Amino acid sequence: MVASGRLIKTCKIFSIKGVIVVSGDSPSAWSPEMVERGGYPHFMLKEIHEQPKALRNALSLESDVCRLAARILNDSEQVYITAAGTSNHAGLAGRYMFTRLSAIRSQNIISSEFPELTGELLDENCVVLAISQSGETADTINAVRHAKRQGAKVVSITNVRGSTISKLSDFTVYTYAGPEYGLAATKTFLVQVACLALLSLELALMRGTLSTGEVEELRAELMRSPRIVDETIKRQESVVRDIAYRYADKPSFLFLGRGISTATAMEGALKLKETAYVHAEAYPAGESRHGPIAIIEPGFPVIFIAPPDENYEKLVGNVREIKAYRAEIISVVQEGDREVRKLSDSSIAIPETCPVFTPITYVIPLQLFAYFVAFRRGYNPDKPRYLVKAVTEP
Ligand code: F6R
Repeated sequence: MVASGRLIKTCKIFSIKGVIVVSGDSPSAWSPEMVERGGYPHFMLKEIHEQPKALRNALSLESDVCRLAARILNDSEQVYITAAGTSNHAGLAGRYMFTRLSAIRSQNIISSEFPELTGELLDENCVVLAISQSGETADTINAVRHAKRQGAKVVSITNVRGSTISKLSDFTVYTYAGPEYGLAATKTFLVQVACLALLSLELALMRGTLSTGEVEELRAELMRSPRIVDETIKRQESVVRDIAYRYADKPSFLFLGRGISTATAMEGALKLKETAYVHAEAYPAGESRHGPIAIIEPGFPVIFIAPPDENYEKLVGNVREIKAYRAEIISVVQEGDREVRKLSDSSIAIPETCPVFTPITYVIPLQLFAYFVAFRRGYNPDKPRYLVKAVTEP
């Protein structure tokens, strides 16, 4: 934990990377919730900090569990990935990894649209991969029931043992992130992406799309991610806080990425909307000229997710173009980046990450950004209005 401070008899003051929190008279005055928060001002910040540990747990998934899940996917003709909200964004990253690493046919369908979009087209040759932190989201449960009625198999990824979705599934992979109390999903996004990455690697071995050596190399890269997340939080939290405070009163943001970073951009926009009540839209950067660019005016903040992957050069073109309209460019780049950084008004640098796993590390500053914008605007990010942790009513 990064809290520093002194506990004195009548008042405790914590400075959590610059956020000053004064709470109560003495530890005995702490409410059970404050004890649960372990000194952090909000669960959201606590859970952002817990991510390296959650990720380590998820990555220690037993290899036979991973193999059995991958076997079911591999035996199918078509995989449908279904989920809602943040889990859907993890699923979008998952599809990218399935395509790039294991060349398995998959499609994302948001769970609230799943029955309408699949109709009567499912059968026993299809597998539905349902992703849900709570395992209780009504739309995802409906999607699973719809699939089962037609004989499709269901594999789920969830954080809650014994949840409805796990009971309905033919096979469940648990993410072991520990309970998530913050209303905004943070650590569970990371562990879902990590599980999907492990599945992709297992599938790549089964399908022979990568050699054993290549898979082992990628697995080693994935195992480094908890350390990268930890370093990112340590090095960049105050940088992100300063940027967030600078832009906290902007009424609207655009998040742009390409390839797997589109999923990261979507997750960043959702976090900002739900915790800080700021309008935020995410788009694949390549789509920006097909409409979204029209909203740019001088000073409009655009957040680019810009890892040095196969899309980097095209993304630089997008940054250049949007910069020409005098937007304020905020970028998330790899340490040592020059091109995007030069074009940016503010940048956040992430230690080198394997390009195919970047959502795990590049989402960190976006979570922190949403948290600090919410904080600066005077909102409690743990209690966003109108929202509940699991949407159990359709
Ligand atoms: C966003 C958020 C929601 C959930 C969505 C699905 O921070 O928490 O968008 O991701 O309601 O919930 P689960 O994953 O429990 O099915």
